[in-house]
Amino acid sequence: MARIPEDTINRIRDTADIVDVVSQYVDLRKRGQNFVGLCPFHNDVHPSLYVSPSKQIYKCFACGAGGHAISFLMDFEKISFVDSIKRLGDRYGIEIKADTEPGAKEFFSNLYAIHELAMKRYQGHLFSEKGEKILGYLKERGLTEETIKKFHLGLALDAWDDLLKAARAKEFPKDVLDKSGLFTKTDKGTFDRFHNRIMFPIFHPSGKVIAFGGRAIDPKEPAKYVNSPETPLYHKSEVMYGFQASGPTIRKSDSMILVEGYTDFLQLFQAGAKNTVAVSGTALTEKHVNQIRRFAKRVYLAYDGDPAGIKAALRAGYLLYQAGVEPRVIKMPENLDPDDWVQKQGLGPFKEAARTAIPLIEFQLQTVNVDEFTGMETSRFVQDIIQDLATIQDSIIRDKLLRTLAEKLKVDEEDLYERLEREMRRGSRRFVDEDQPRKVESEEMYDSFSSQAQRSQVELIKILAGAGESARQQVRDSVELELFSEPILKRLAEILMPIYEEIDHAAVVDQFEDKNERELVTKILMDELFETDLEIAISDYAKVLRLTPVKEQIKELRLEIRELERRKEDPTEKVLDLTRLQKELNGMK
Ligand code: UTP
Ligand code: MN
Repeated sequence: MARIPEDTINRIRDTADIVDVVSQYVDLRKRGQNFVGLCPFHNDVHPSLYVSPSKQIYKCFACGAGGHAISFLMDFEKISFVDSIKRLGDRYGIEIKADTEPGAKEFFSNLYAIHELAMKRYQGHLFSEKGEKILGYLKERGLTEETIKKFHLGLALDAWDDLLKAARAKEFPKDVLDKSGLFTKTDKGTFDRFHNRIMFPIFHPSGKVIAFGGRAIDPKEPAKYVNSPETPLYHKSEVMYGFQASGPTIRKSDSMILVEGYTDFLQLFQAGAKNTVAVSGTALTEKHVNQIRRFAKRVYLAYDGDPAGIKAALRAGYLLYQAGVEPRVIKMPENLDPDDWVQKQGLGPFKEAARTAIPLIEFQLQTVNVDEFTGMETSRFVQDIIQDLATIQDSIIRDKLLRTLAEKLKVDEEDLYERLEREMRRGSRRFVDEDQPRKVESEEMYDSFSSQAQRSQVELIKILAGAGESARQQVRDSVELELFSEPILKRLAEILMPIYEEIDHAAVVDQFEDKNERELVTKILMDELFETDLEIAISDYAKVLRLTPVKEQIKELRLEIRELERRKEDPTEKVLDLTRLQKELNGMK
């Protein structure tokens, strides 16, 4: 598919008017600053579609659909991004030249070149005197020099413009620097994005480096990993770390092992599990799954054994089921990730665990203590799983899973069938149900931001997106990026903070490719600011975000102390920790 040059896309986005585009399909009426109409994405009876000419975005407050002009056409006409751009180009008389244009070609080859430069520079540092300690650390972690070189690991120095200077010396054009994701812009100037980090280059399947993940060296550094943002080269939702090396084996063996971290990948690959990939810096997406199913019939999930890892594994697993790939789960020892495990015990035990890996649904059953369930609890648990099963299109897979479920839970299979059918009818009825459109996933995501810390993050984003420059500056000054604990909100903050001009809301929405994310972002950007005294509000939100992690640590410690006391062990050390944290907390208030 021809790539449309970035600046043509920008021109079309800037020219296409959301009110004009939507009113081709929907009768819009002016209401206040916005336009409203019947939403075309569900069976709307009262106008719930809001279109904002000033922000150039639309949002349905009933069903949650939302986005900018380009995505409206995509969703309404069910066409691709490129086709939507072409239609808009036609309508607004903007000629679209494909990427044979020399300018675009040069832009992309420059982007590749600057990544290559960065990779070489980081690698040079690692193998220089400055990198001696870090290289030693990597070797201590069991990585051989061969592996470190094969995957071009490197070191970003503890400096602010090491890479910047090197890139400027090579006279890369400014837009290449800006779009590479390797630098950040603040009001004080442009700086290297990565400093004092171990660098993991991320490769395109062709072998070209397109992005980086950087692991903190200083354990006090709040962001353990910093990854490249979305760039014209790097689309997180599509890239799998390590695939350039493991692709051939995966194709040959028809199976792959999926892990969460860069180091998990490296350790496994080095030990001989050559069909491994990692999904890094993001959860598994539909786009990943669409690639995976072309190469592998069996996917082994080797996720961390902690609650977050289990949750991520279940989510990934159901995406795979939906695509017709049967996921199996490798049971991990508690508190170890694949990297730790293989480092400690070699590949043997891991291999054995892979041989006896269990289907996702059995794993899901093992995550809870079914035998001690009350009737009520069983019923609720079954309902949850049934809802997951109803998302699977393939009836053979679905029925097989249902039988397993009935067997393991010792419940009547027929009864489960009925429930599943009811659930699936409900699913299909959702589209014709007039008054109550089903909440889309983005709305559920938004609603799930319910804790004080999450709400504070949302409000800060709204301020960054909609308030005047002085309030925005106050946010920049008082809230570090790391305080955004919700990944999508952090990404938004990362996009919004460096913008000093007026915000182009549609352009912000455009940075999110995933439909759910796009809708969620639109919803947040569409929200009006309610606070009247922003200065106080911002300092309150900042305080909440600073206090939350400490409070959570205190909560955790309390539990641990109680557990130690229950086991009649000495909790003194933990009590001292607790006192220290409490002092810290009081000092922060
Ligand atoms: P982990 O926190 O489990 O780190 O994150 P790790 O890979 O085991 O690293 P080591 O062993 O402590 O050195 C797992 C993966 O999640 C992503 C990274 O891809 C990481 O490898 N991650 C984690 C981020 O993108 N950002 C973070 O802040 C943390
Ligand atoms: Mn690890």
